[in-house]
Amino acid sequence: MQRLVILVSGRGSNLGAIARACRDEAWPATIAAVISNRPDAAGLALARELGLPAVALDHRAHPDRAAFDTALADAIDAAGADWVVLAGFMRILGEPFVQRYAGRMLNIHPSLLPAFPGLHTHRRALDAGCTLAGATVHFVTPTLDHGPIVAQVAVPVRPGDDEASLAARVLVAEHRLYPQALRWCLEGRVRLRDGGIVAEPGLERGRFVDPAAG
Ligand code: GAR
Repeated sequence: MQRLVILVSGRGSNLGAIARACRDEAWPATIAAVISNRPDAAGLALARELGLPAVALDHRAHPDRAAFDTALADAIDAAGADWVVLAGFMRILGEPFVQRYAGRMLNIHPSLLPAFPGLHTHRRALDAGCTLAGATVHFVTPTLDHGPIVAQVAVPVRPGDDEASLAARVLVAEHRLYPQALRWCLEGRVRLRDGGIVAEPGLERGRFVDPAAG
């Protein structure tokens, strides 16, 4: 069994999608801990409801980023993590932390990277007149939102979309994308080698989903 540690800062809907898939599809993995930098995160409450070990690690209780990163690494290592899964974790992680988990730390970002790294992705996609939006699962590297891409999903931007309607459409797609991409990594079907992705031939690592088309 591979041990997953999932980091959340907010709602935790991607955590929920991963936890359900892990259980329902009987992955060769267990969620060893859910850790949040925000003690009041809904994602932590969800973890407790799901019976998962939930750890609050308030970043405001640490004097600086390095101290928080050290405490976070200690908590992750105490859980015996094989994989670190960022699921709406909204803290920037320092380079030593990222290097420590190189090749076994994933993130989901709500845009078609390399477009729109950082915040407010949906507003920026709308402002840019994009006709497609989406989400990306990638290995985490020291450059924010720039790691090698495991998988992506695209959804249409519809006339009349606002930030909320587009975010909702992307989120539905995220909930399919992240469990699938994570599972491929756990199974070794997608790996990081020499800083690039090696994937089993035939994996549908990019797809278009139109929820309105059913
Ligand atoms: C998701 O949309 C995720 O892609 C995004 O935060 C949301 C978390 O939702 N992550 C980032 O923006 C990271 N840069 P959730 O807490 O319901 O999973």
